[in-house]
Amino acid sequence: MPFHPIDTSHLYQTRQLFKHAQLESVKAWINDPAHGTLPLHARIQRAIRQLILDGALDVGRPLPASRALAKSLDVSRDTVESAYGQLHAEGFIERRVGSGSFVSGRVQALPKRGAAPRNGAPHEPLRLGRRGAAMHRGGGVREFSAPRPFAPGVPETRSFPLQTWERLQRQVLKEYGSRALAHSPPQGMEALRRAIADHVNLERGAHASPERVLILTSSQQAMTLCATVLLDPGDRIFIEDPIYQGARKAFDAAGLECVPVPLDDQGMQVERLRDSPLPAGAVFLTPSHQFPTGATLALDRRLAVIEWARQNRTWIIEDDYDSEFHYAGKPTACVQGLDAHDRTIYIGTFTKSLFPGLRIGYMVLPPRLVEPMTVARTLLDGHSAPIPQLTLARFMEGGHFGAHVRAMRSVYAERRDALAELVRRHLADFVEPKVPLGGMQMPCLFVRDMDERAVIDGARRAGIDLLGLTALHASGERRQAGFLMGFAAYAPQELEIAVGKLAGVLRALRR
Ligand SMILES: Cc1ncc(COP(=O)(O)O)c(C=O)c1O
Repeated sequence: MPFHPIDTSHLYQTRQLFKHAQLESVKAWINDPAHGTLPLHARIQRAIRQLILDGALDVGRPLPASRALAKSLDVSRDTVESAYGQLHAEGFIERRVGSGSFVSGRVQALPKRGAAPRNGAPHEPLRLGRRGAAMHRGGGVREFSAPRPFAPGVPETRSFPLQTWERLQRQVLKEYGSRALAHSPPQGMEALRRAIADHVNLERGAHASPERVLILTSSQQAMTLCATVLLDPGDRIFIEDPIYQGARKAFDAAGLECVPVPLDDQGMQVERLRDSPLPAGAVFLTPSHQFPTGATLALDRRLAVIEWARQNRTWIIEDDYDSEFHYAGKPTACVQGLDAHDRTIYIGTFTKSLFPGLRIGYMVLPPRLVEPMTVARTLLDGHSAPIPQLTLARFMEGGHFGAHVRAMRSVYAERRDALAELVRRHLADFVEPKVPLGGMQMPCLFVRDMDERAVIDGARRAGIDLLGLTALHASGERRQAGFLMGFAAYAPQELEIAVGKLAGVLRALRR
């Protein structure tokens, strides 16, 4: 048999220029399944670029001839040529006729290996702007995935009429075609603004028209807009004490000075606004169902707060987040509908009445504020997505929204009663439930000395989420320890299992 020596000259040539480890790292990059969607030449080009960026191939280093590298990698020469061509076009290598390819001198400007890592030197403290630092201090990233009992404020989504929603969305796509894929008006789709105006006028006693409605992604966005458009950093805003944390964080992040106003069973003690020695630019309220206490703001106080806003030319920010779910008759009409002086900004959301993933909220604005608020929202995110807006408009017009809310109202009322009964039966040694007339969560106050933090942490370890009440208070005045128990998203059997676990946690922590 004739002897055919194996040709290894390409390897010799490649190895002269690429160390073994470098060749191996190019091969590993090429074969990494995570890079599988890239064409071969792009994988080779990225692998070599990475060696250059890492400093493994320094300035002036010759690259293997394309024929030699092609053989070493078992690819065609054209593939390597095309990788080299791209590296050349990006400025990473130079190609000299007759002498080959070299790492370009321009690479000198890249930070050297071992110098500061890409995301900043570890020893250099992160410097955020004042507003960024305030936001960051406001708290960690909220975990929004599958809610566990008793995460508050979460609606039941398992029984949502998805087929109806899907049918309406299909209708929208059919009717609008590619127009539904384009940008849409920053104020929101007219059909949805009309449906919302009709809804709040009828159900909430509001004074709305489509021209006054601004569609947003959430009430959270509405609060941020109010804080930044109506007020300046350092301005004072009266807030309920205790307060919804999302609102507090939005105001803190905008640099506002939050002035807590105590509550009683009639809601915020609004006479304190009149008596305050220092002026404020706005007041934030959850009048129909105070978060977290559940109190309803009495009519005389509503009128008093409107008068205060008129006299002082300030704003009332009314967060009407869950008024759809009142279990004993209708909730009181909103403040906005009573305000003849147009000083009230009404905030609504579909997070609770439909589903949180929808990300549609809105404001009903005094006419003068429509334009400035719309301009400000375009700077944040342009506009809300048109397809869900149009689908929601049909859902409302077709009566599905009303039907869904009515159905969920009786489901939630049943769950509220089931939870109240379970708490009385199993947790009476520890807490007293404050059974709410509406909403999706029940405040429970400790009836014995318990460490609220330890209870919340112990519950979390047992797979249960509770929201501590102490942290929602701005001042020590009348602070009451305990926790909020969300009930809307959990079936009675789920509530029962979770209450059983919570009883175990509380017994273990009894002191
Ligand atoms: C008082 C209050 N307002 C607003 C919201 C949130 O609504 P959105 O998801 O539209 O920001 C919540 C959610 O828990 C809430 O409790």
